[in-house]
Amino acid sequence: MPNKEQKLIAFNWKENPATSRAAARLFRDLLRLAAAAPKDRQVAAFPPFLYLSELARMPAVRRSAVMLGAQDVFWESQGAYTGEIGPAMLQDLGKKMKFVIIGHSERRRFLGETDGMVNKKVRAALAAGLRVILCVGEPAEVRKQGTAATRRYIKNQLKEGLKNIAAPLKNGIRHIDNMVVAYEPIWAIGTGRHCPPEDALAMARFIKQETADVAVLYGGSVDGNTAASYLCYNDINGVLVGGASLRVQEIKKLITKSHKKHG
Ligand code: PGA
Repeated sequence: MPNKEQKLIAFNWKENPATSRAAARLFRDLLRLAAAAPKDRQVAAFPPFLYLSELARMPAVRRSAVMLGAQDVFWESQGAYTGEIGPAMLQDLGKKMKFVIIGHSERRRFLGETDGMVNKKVRAALAAGLRVILCVGEPAEVRKQGTAATRRYIKNQLKEGLKNIAAPLKNGIRHIDNMVVAYEPIWAIGTGRHCPPEDALAMARFIKQETADVAVLYGGSVDGNTAASYLCYNDINGVLVGGASLRVQEIKKLITKSHKKHG
């Protein structure tokens, strides 16, 4: 998921917008625009938890192909864990609630999320039947050291994040359809700096090779104009979009603009 022919356009709202009213408006715009999406696009929105249950219950969402996802999940299903939301609570939001982003670099950086925590979350989410988007990506200092160092860094994030999950690693198939990896170089997130598409492609291929050929998204300052330069590659299965998720004109281009296929 997405299937080989489809591109996933994942809109990560982060801590936006400031009110539930603005969230409902943004989501309605997204539903309207997604209705015109070509068949080869799958659209998913990742609003803050607070808005998620409200949006999942909107009648219009049932008629739409748009999926919903959470920006994080805790590894325990319920209990004395103040402030946390578990996989079962997400599953309870209904059929549209399909995805969860795990290990986003902002959580790793600002909230001290470790590879060990990421791994527990991935395992719990997969066990609950959620589709996981595991985020990996190197900081600028690592990239400066070159391709070999960058690959080592990503390989380690994959190894740790996917520990004890037989499936997405080589020789496993059970969870493969529910596993997506988002390659998001940290220096490209929210900076307007673009990762050259050939570099993103090379990393996507490396990630597929290190796993059981999981779907790979690219993320980092993607907008309506730059998306096509990543989506044109067969081995890039979609994009994870942050800032541009909040701007209707960008959403429109991301959902409907075509990309020429090559390689
Ligand atoms: P950005 O965020 O598009 O604002 O760079 C991407 C992300 O963090 O997923």
